[in-house]
Amino acid sequence: MNDLDKAMAVMDAAFDPYWREAWTRRQVEDSLALSSGFMILMDDAGQYPSEVRPAAGFVLARKVLDEVELLLIGVRPEYRGRGLGGKLIAEFLQKSARMGAANVFLEVRANNPAEKVYRSAGFEPIGRRKDYYRTTDGTKIDAVTFGRAL
Ligand SMILES: CC(C)(COP(=O)(O)OP(=O)(O)OC[C@H]1O[C@@H](n2cnc3c(N)ncnc32)[C@H](O)[C@@H]1OP(=O)(O)O)[C@@H](O)C(=O)NCCC(=O)NCCS
Repeated sequence: MNDLDKAMAVMDAAFDPYWREAWTRRQVEDSLALSSGFMILMDDAGQYPSEVRPAAGFVLARKVLDEVELLLIGVRPEYRGRGLGGKLIAEFLQKSARMGAANVFLEVRANNPAEKVYRSAGFEPIGRRKDYYRTTDGTKIDAVTFGRAL
């Protein structure tokens, strides 16, 4: 299994199709093909996954000038609530700082419980796009941009 396979296995388990947030394999592959794109993978112990300890979570991100955007974060439902999301974000922040970024940001649908994880990691809301997301039943949901300096 390569990193893309590992991330897609988590993607399929972590994202409820209703919100239409999950990316296709092609979208992830394309984002990683750019030199600006990178991924962080973790097993349930917060280490890089192995054959015996498969991936439990991932972060997909890209650097644009001096900013890094967190594109997606996902943790398998059975491993949630144990700090893995927080560890992924901590590693994302470290890596972004090492890459020389000054700021990080992300966009999330309003009222996503993930907001709590972002706030714990020092992100604050900095903008809102009305009706940006549309669920499978047509419900429109705002997008909230969160950011923080490094
Ligand atoms: C968002 C997500 C990655 C968080 O992963 P996680 O491993 O559960 O995160 P953590 O265990 O670090 O939890 C972070 C905080 O959320 C809280 N939390 C985690 N799971 C929770 C749950 N099921 N219900 C309520 N609170 C929860 C924790 O108490 C913790 O709060 P704290 O920092 O004040 O202690 C995970 O829920 C997920 O994959 N969600 C689906 C995909 C998604 O919506 N991604 C975000 C948009 S891209």
